[in-house]
Amino acid sequence: MKILNVVGARPNLMKIAPLMEAFAARREISPLLVHTGQHYDENMSDLFFRQLGIPEPDLNLGVGSGSHAVQTAEIMKAFEPVVLEHAPDAVLVVGDVNSTIACGTVAVKLGIPLVHVEAGLRSFDRSMPEEINRIITDAISDVLFCTEKSGVENLLAEGVAKEKIHLVGNVMIDTLMRHREKADASRVLENLELEEGRYAVLTLHRPANVDRRELLGPLVDAFEVIQRDLPVVFPAHPRTRARLQEFGLAERIAGLPDFRVLDPVGYLDFLKLMTSAKLVLTDSGGIQEEATILAVPCLTLRENTERPVTIEMGGNQLVGRDPERILKAYRKVASGDVPRPQVPPLWDGKAAGRIVEILSRAL
Ligand code: UD1
Ligand code: UDP
Repeated sequence: MKILNVVGARPNLMKIAPLMEAFAARREISPLLVHTGQHYDENMSDLFFRQLGIPEPDLNLGVGSGSHAVQTAEIMKAFEPVVLEHAPDAVLVVGDVNSTIACGTVAVKLGIPLVHVEAGLRSFDRSMPEEINRIITDAISDVLFCTEKSGVENLLAEGVAKEKIHLVGNVMIDTLMRHREKADASRVLENLELEEGRYAVLTLHRPANVDRRELLGPLVDAFEVIQRDLPVVFPAHPRTRARLQEFGLAERIAGLPDFRVLDPVGYLDFLKLMTSAKLVLTDSGGIQEEATILAVPCLTLRENTERPVTIEMGGNQLVGRDPERILKAYRKVASGDVPRPQVPPLWDGKAAGRIVEILSRAL
């Protein structure tokens, strides 16, 4: 059984790693790995292959950046001949990025069964590019693996047949659990002269937050206040780095003594940074989940989340984009007024094993 697996962007790599490992242990499955090249910087892609032990992709489509239409179309054009050449029994896509929808669409139009890992998540915010990718990918998938109950409910409400849906847990948490020990050995705190529990980690890259000056500016105001109280470490996504420059905010930030803007860091350093932080500020999807498992309080700089279980479990709060609201939530968390989150059902490090077992039977 030949399964063609797709990755493109950074968060796809943590999701594919445990699946590739689980496939390798099954004689009946022969996995292929295709990288679309959506992300291409060393510290947005190759570094994660090495750290997470992901096999070299069999193919890199080298598509790179572009507008949504251009990027999606280029991926589709480059992926179609690959599917035709390899004639896989299934194509497996993860997450909600442009590579997910582009390759998913190509597969089903060639009559190849489509498997979606991390199906059913919904922010109910269609201005978010990922929400469109999620809805379309799920609508055309044949086997849908969900991380949380809300995903199953959303799919059923959209009319997806019950037999196609499987609640299996979270492959991103598989990766986290496999790498905690290695991350513990990271020297990142010493290198950055940070004290355990005495700093905040920030990530920010959603277009809704960073692509407009009138929204990014007030966010920086809030970070300026926080860094007076607690050092803020900010591994900046390349999109965000470019916007800070473009909006003339980079200089202001450079003048803030305890606001440390870094290039994106590798998985092990980032895991160590999160584990030892007082709190996490983020608009990332995956980081909300990781913070929940690490029991590090997470303030999500968005008005909605497609991962409601992280809120139900008590570790994550939506704090939006208004500086006053962010600072109020920050003060509460900084004072230690936070519950210890519970672990969402099935987030036990064994999701990839369940997926491979089900695929073995289903295909
Ligand atoms: C993409 C995903 C988003 C995901 C994020 C993870 C879509 C629609 N968005 O957003 O869901 O949360 O990845 O990080 O698929 N760039 C570089 N080097 C790189 C990659 C990107 O410099 O290696 C810069 C380019 O200027 C590019 C911009 O970042 O135009 C945005 O990259 P893109 O992949 O289009 O979207 P992300 O914002 O990364
Ligand atoms: N991450 C990382 N280095 C960084 C920032 C994030 O290794 O500098 C990891 C993080 O631990 C998580 C994943 O990248 O596993 C999240 O990716 P991202 O926030 O880019 O995407 P999203 O989850 O929002 O789609």
